[in-house]
Amino acid sequence: MQRFVRYRSRAGLASVAAAVLLLVMQPTDAAWWLVRIPGVAALLLAAAAVAIPPAPRRPTWHAPLGRLAIAALFAHILSVVAQEPEIWRWLSAAMPVEIALGLGAAIALSMTLAVRRSRSLRLRVGPPATLGLHRIAGLVACAAAGAHVALVAGSTFTIVSLVACGVAMLLVAGNPAERHLPALIVTLGLGTGAAAALAAGPLAQTRLAGLRASTVDHAGFSHGDHGSIACTTCHHNFVDRSGKENCITCHKRLTISEPMRVDRMFHAFCGECHREEKAAGRKTGPIDHCMGCHAD
Ligand code: HEC
Ligand code: HEC
Ligand code: HEC
Ligand code: HEC
Repeated sequence: MQRFVRYRSRAGLASVAAAVLLLVMQPTDAAWWLVRIPGVAALLLAAAAVAIPPAPRRPTWHAPLGRLAIAALFAHILSVVAQEPEIWRWLSAAMPVEIALGLGAAIALSMTLAVRRSRSLRLRVGPPATLGLHRIAGLVACAAAGAHVALVAGSTFTIVSLVACGVAMLLVAGNPAERHLPALIVTLGLGTGAAAALAAGPLAQTRLAGLRASTVDHAGFSHGDHGSIACTTCHHNFVDRSGKENCITCHKRLTISEPMRVDRMFHAFCGECHREEKAAGRKTGPIDHCMGCHAD
């Protein structure tokens, strides 16, 4: 049993590592590497800390890996703020899901250390419950960081599947013994609850209303930059003459559910072509750098 558990967590870690490798091979903007590298390092280190649980009376890599994960996380956040000083403008109810998940992962990862360090918490709820909270925070951090990475624009189907498999194996392996079943149930409950709140109900309505109400930001688009591309590549409904309306105005009206969000559709649409052009070594537009498109 013990060997099987270890095997599962190693397999989970390998799956996450393979996804990270594939993600790093995707083209991005030059300056964005400073954001991407510490970000994927934080995910890998946190997954490794979950996969290598501390052994009693023996030094292990668990705690050093956890601390390194937190250091990488802060480097990631600082580089995002340095690259995109205007990132704050998206911290509203309409915040894209991937940013919300990234923030959730950052809070949960910081909680692992805070819970471990808090003497008053240990005195109040006792060491086993403190350990339980530490474990839940670690698993939630891995799951949210995995979802954050899987949802950022440019994650392919293979990357999404590898992250999902890896995180699922880590979650199961992170809760081996019977007495840890409550931790698994709480983790899954939190995850399902958060997903349900985002996908339906008043929270989803507030988010979509916020998105529709935000001013149309022409996203730095200029026809001059795209002169050599056939009009119908982008004006998909030009043929029946309904395509004269502005894309973004119409698509904001179409935003009726999370998967139809205008940001998700346009990030995939604009970014995909820029990524392909970059991979082919041609001059192209911004890929991940928000202000490359969003500055007016
Ligand atoms: C790379 C994608 C792309 C290509 C190629 C493209 N367009 Fe556009 N077009 C857009 C986008 C995006 C907008 C909305 C821009 C904005 O809101 O600033 C737009 C807006 C327009 C508008 C203004 C609609 C309005 O009322 O705001 C017209 C007219 C238009 N395009 C015509 C053309 C024609 C004609 C061609 C071919 C010569 C062409 N476009 C090629 C993406 C494209
Ligand atoms: C009059 C409304 C309208 C305008 C204007 C419009 N679209 Fe669309 N667009 C739609 C509808 C409706 C769909 C289909 C949604 C669906 O498949 O559920 C769609 C789908 C799309 C998709 C997704 C296609 C897919 O296969 O997933 C992209 C990308 C897109 N539009 C980009 C654009 C761009 C770029 C422009 C402007 C150059 C534009 N749209 C202008 C209504 C519009
Ligand atoms: C079919 C491919 C394609 C699509 C779709 C496309 N682009 Fe581009 N984009 C390009 C290419 C190619 C260039 C480089 C043109 C050049 O400078 O020669 C470019 C350049 C740009 C630039 C200018 C970069 C700079 O440094 O000046 C911006 C901004 C941009 N695109 C935004 C967008 C936005 C926003 C969308 C979606 C509404 C979009 N693009 C859709 C191919 C595309
Ligand atoms: C390749 C160009 C491109 C890049 C890069 C890009 N975006 Fe966008 N984004 C768009 C387009 C086009 C739209 C649809 C037009 C709109 O709603 O302004 C959009 C819409 C959005 C929206 C919803 C509409 C709004 O303005 O509230 C948000 C939020 C957003 N983007 C955030 C980001 C963030 C955060 C980043 C960087 C991580 C980013 N974008 C990078 C092109 C881009």
